[in-house]
Amino acid sequence: MRPFLIVGNLKMNLLTRSECEKYLALLRKEMTGKRFPSVKGILCPPTIHLTRFTHLPEGWSLGAQDTAPERSGAFTGETSPLMLKDAGVGAVIVGHSERRQYSAETDELISRKVHILLKHLITPVLCIGETAEERRREATTDVLEQQLGAVFQDLSPMQAEKITLAYEPRWAIGTDVLPTTEEILQVKVFFRKFFTTRYDARLAERMEILYGGSVTAPTLGAVSWEADMNGVLVGRDSLFPHALVKMMELAEAAKARTAH
Ligand code: PGA
Repeated sequence: MRPFLIVGNLKMNLLTRSECEKYLALLRKEMTGKRFPSVKGILCPPTIHLTRFTHLPEGWSLGAQDTAPERSGAFTGETSPLMLKDAGVGAVIVGHSERRQYSAETDELISRKVHILLKHLITPVLCIGETAEERRREATTDVLEQQLGAVFQDLSPMQAEKITLAYEPRWAIGTDVLPTTEEILQVKVFFRKFFTTRYDARLAERMEILYGGSVTAPTLGAVSWEADMNGVLVGRDSLFPHALVKMMELAEAAKARTAH
């Protein structure tokens, strides 16, 4: 059975070495004596802190929040995917709405980032989602189709299924406003259609798809397993190790229920 995935996006928080150390100490304490064999955690700290997060508790691996679309060279301020890999990173968030919004990232740039990550055997966690205005216009599936099309247009089935997709409605990020389970299920139906048409039903079934946007422990079930999602991407609440570990406990219990 595929593990339930919890990706913690720490964003631009934990400003000092000592804050990182405190965070890690808390995470270790929360994880002490606990094992969640059906759950996998990926923690994505700010790039400059990556090497401070190499010794994570069992069940956790290291992710990053962004990558350069190039391998090396004259790209001031950028971080190569090979540097990330060397720091122990196995997955990278790409196309987060904050990068689309504040750094004007285009679908074309996001597609290049996905390609270079796949080339270097790093898992892209590709974020897509509609704005509140697009939702009001009932343009959600058109927007998702456009964002997906830009990335998947020239990917082989083997490449496609290495991507982890994160459905993050922009209006749900940082707002405490959540879509209903039903709304997420509708999006899931759209994803299944998209991947079946572009590839086949088997691949559509195998795609790993997460939900992201205002996820907390109390809302976890309604936006993930009840909505046929394979995991979650967590922003604010990932700053609290006890909240992340609580989510792991809940997901492990849910997995155990479906196994019986
Ligand atoms: P949030 O962020 O959990 O704070 O809403 C989610 C995200 O940005 O992925």
